[in-house]
Amino acid sequence: MPFDLLPSTATQVVVAGLGYVGCVTAACLAHLGHRVTGVDRDPYKVRAVNAGESPFHEPELPELLRRVHEAGRLSATADMGEALAGARVVLLCVGTPSEPNGNLSVDQLRRVSLEVAPALQLRETPLVVAVRSTTFPGTCEDAVLESLGRHAMAAVVANPEFLREGAAVRDFLEPSLVVVGGSDQEAVHLVASLYAGLPVAPTLTTLRAAELIKYACNAFHAVKIGFANEMGTLARAMGIDAAEVMETLKKDTRLNASGAYLRPGFAFGGACLPKDLRALEFGAQRLGLQLPLLESVLPSNSAHLSRAIEQVLALPGAKLGIYGLAFKEDTDDLRESPAVAMLEQLAGNGRQFRVYDAHIRLESIFGANLRFLLGALPQIGAQMAGSLEELLDWADEVVLTQPPSPADAAMIEARGRPLCELYRMCAR
Ligand SMILES: NC(=O)c1ccc[n+]([C@@H]2O[C@H](COP(=O)([O-])OP(=O)(O)OC[C@H]3O[C@@H](n4cnc5c(N)ncnc54)[C@H](O)[C@@H]3O)[C@@H](O)[C@H]2O)c1
Repeated sequence: MPFDLLPSTATQVVVAGLGYVGCVTAACLAHLGHRVTGVDRDPYKVRAVNAGESPFHEPELPELLRRVHEAGRLSATADMGEALAGARVVLLCVGTPSEPNGNLSVDQLRRVSLEVAPALQLRETPLVVAVRSTTFPGTCEDAVLESLGRHAMAAVVANPEFLREGAAVRDFLEPSLVVVGGSDQEAVHLVASLYAGLPVAPTLTTLRAAELIKYACNAFHAVKIGFANEMGTLARAMGIDAAEVMETLKKDTRLNASGAYLRPGFAFGGACLPKDLRALEFGAQRLGLQLPLLESVLPSNSAHLSRAIEQVLALPGAKLGIYGLAFKEDTDDLRESPAVAMLEQLAGNGRQFRVYDAHIRLESIFGANLRFLLGALPQIGAQMAGSLEELLDWADEVVLTQPPSPADAAMIEARGRPLCELYRMCAR
C-alpha cells in the first residue's frame, strides 16, 4: 500500500459525515495532499479523527489516519460553519438509508445541506457542494440544491463513491471509476481535480447520469451475485461443481466477463437464448428449485419488447419502414425474432409497413424459417422491400431494429426521414 504522500494541487476540503465513506474519503484526500476538515454530529467520530484514530474497523485506515493527522492535514469538528470558512469544496457523505417502502431517505442530506446554507451568505466565491452519498436521480436537485436555497454561491455536483467496506482505502486510492456530474463545468473540474493523483481518468457527465451510474453499478453487482448463486444452486442440485462452471464461464473474457451485451437496445431473440432459458427453468423446476432471477429474464425481455411495440405504435408516420427483420444483424435467422413479433402487432393494429433486411430474400428462405415467417406475417411477400432505397422512397418514418451498416447508415441519414432507433436507447 503506497503510503507516501502523493503530489497534488492542495485544495481546502470539508467532508460532511465521517462514517465509512466520509472517514475514508477524508483520510485519503488528506493523503493526496489536500487540507481536510471532517464534520460529524457524532462527537465520538470527531474525537477519534482528532486523535488520529479510526472510529470503526477498516483495513489500512488506522495507519493512514495517523499519518495524515500527524502531517496536520486532517482535523474534525462538529461545527459546520467553522469548518466551511475558507473551504472551496464540501463533500456530503451522510447516510441515505431505505425508508420502510424502499424509497431513499434524504433526511440527512436535507439537514446537512441546511447546515451548509448559512455559510453561503458570507462567500465571495462559490462553494462547490459535491454529493458523495448515493442519491436517486433528481435528489441532488430536489433535496440538496433546494435546501441550499438555490443560492448563486452554491454549485452542486454528484460525485458518487464506489468503495467497498473491507477494501475501502485501496478502492479509493486505486479506483476503477471516478465519476463527476453537474452542469457547472468549473465545479465539475474542481471536484475531478481532487483525484488528480489517482491512476484513473475521471468520467465527467451530467448530474442525473452521475447519480444513476452509481445505481447501475450496484444493481449490476447484485445481479452478478444473484446469477452466480442461482447457477451454483442448480449445479449443486445436479452434483456438478459450481465453482468449476463459473470459473470456466469467466475464462471467456470476450462474451462473458466483458462489456459484450451491455448495450441498451432491442429485445433479444433467436434460436438459442429463449430456448435455453426455458430449458434451464424447466430443469430447475423438475429439481424443485426456485431460481427467480433466471425465471425473470424471459418476462423481462417480453416486457422490453412490449415497450418497443408501444413506442412504434405511437409513431405518427402513416407508412413505417422497418429496417431489420432477423433476430439480429448479419444473419438471416428469423427464429424467435423480436422484429417479427413486433410486425405481427403492427399488422394486428392495422398499421402500414414495409420491411428491409439486407440478408433476407424470401426466395432463399426455406423450412422452419419460412413456415415461421408466413405463419406470423402472411402478407410478408408484399411487405418486403427489395432494397433500402426502395424502403426509404416509400416510408415516411424509419424504425431500426438493428444497427445499420455504415453504408446503410449514411443513406438513411442522407434521406433525413424521422428515425425510431430501437437498437440503441437514446434519451427521449
Ligand atoms: N458504506 C459503503 O460501503 C458505501 C459505499 C459507497 C457509497 N455509500 C453511500 O455513501 C453514503 C454514506 O454511507 P456510510 O456507510 O458512510 O454511512 P454512515 O451511516 O456510516 O455515515 C454517515 C455519517 O454521517 C453523519 N451525519 C449525518 N448527518 C449529519 C450532519 N447533518 N452533519 C454531520 N454529520 C452527519 C453520521 O453521524 C454518520 O457518521 C450513503 O449514501 C451510502 O449509500 C456507502
